[in-house]
Amino acid sequence: MSSGNEPGATPPPSDAELERMDRDALVRLGTSLDGVEIVNYPEPWPVKGTRAEKRAERAVALSFLISALAGVGFVVALIWWPWRYQPPSNQDAHFLYSLYTPLLGITLGVSILALATGVLLYTKRFIPDELAIQQRDDNMGQGSAELHRKTILAQLADAGNRSTFARRSAIKRSLGLSAGMLGLGTVALPVASLIKDPWDQTDTKESLWHTGWQQQFPGEIVYLRRNTGIPDEISLVRPEDLDAGGMETVFPFRESERGNHEALLHALRRADNPVLLIRLRPEDADRVVKRQGQEDFNFGDYYAFSKICTHVGCPASLYEQRTNRLLCPCHQSQFDVLQYAKPVFGPATRALPQLPITVHTDGYLIARHDFIEAIGPGFWERPS
Ligand code: FES
Repeated sequence: MSSGNEPGATPPPSDAELERMDRDALVRLGTSLDGVEIVNYPEPWPVKGTRAEKRAERAVALSFLISALAGVGFVVALIWWPWRYQPPSNQDAHFLYSLYTPLLGITLGVSILALATGVLLYTKRFIPDELAIQQRDDNMGQGSAELHRKTILAQLADAGNRSTFARRSAIKRSLGLSAGMLGLGTVALPVASLIKDPWDQTDTKESLWHTGWQQQFPGEIVYLRRNTGIPDEISLVRPEDLDAGGMETVFPFRESERGNHEALLHALRRADNPVLLIRLRPEDADRVVKRQGQEDFNFGDYYAFSKICTHVGCPASLYEQRTNRLLCPCHQSQFDVLQYAKPVFGPATRALPQLPITVHTDGYLIARHDFIEAIGPGFWERPS
């Protein structure tokens, strides 16, 4: 292996010689000090101003321009597109709302992709395709700090000059626009989350604090219904419908929604509505430990728990009768039904909220009121 400090190696120039060197000489010196020999350093466009060169320049600028336009689209969609949930009954508004997330993804994706395409095109068309050979010895330590500083700066300036970036104003402007729009989008993301307050309607039935089991007026009867697969077919649940040790998924039903296809469908589809109705075996019912303040939430041997896992919201719908455990298939959390569905295994940390139930005078099971806590995974504003 050779070394730059071996006898015979070119001695570094003196300070006076260094001062007299122009940039090309400094570049040659820098590469030779690094043991690099540049074999070929062709100009990508030896004849300036050809149509092919202009075409290549326009293609790069167009990519950056598309990136900028998509960036503008992202910011506009993020701030002004209707983002609040709209029920399917409100067809036009629901359609616009359903486009919100896809629009954000498409505009941001196109913006980044077009920017990357522009950079790649520029690199391929305008950066010289250099061929260089470097010796294994990197010559570290030879020459003064000033010599290294000057040769490195000269090499950087030479690379910048050969890239011809400085004189391509269309590319510079479009790249600036694209970067600016993407930067604006980056700033708009956290700002938009401050502008949009999801808690400005905390008392509405659509807020995270309430589910479809909430009474819409005092005294409203909210029945437990099963899903037969036909939204308009109302099948209410009586206590005798369930055998001891049985389990059934139920949804809210109110008489005011009978015959209203959209409302009935929404009640079956709303994410926080599914409830597991469980009838314990008599020998298990005797061993139940009730949660403080919720001692009367059950009706005899019947217990109703939210089906939405408190870990990250999968349906915890596997009921093992022998152990009285509810299992969530996503990450294997287990909830002990005999102890107010508190988690006994897996990543979930909170019990499944319990729905207070009773039997109405007509013999059907009903909810006494909504859950008394938010269901599903935790969120910032949740106190526990
Ligand atoms: S969502 Fe249920 S365990 Fe993760």
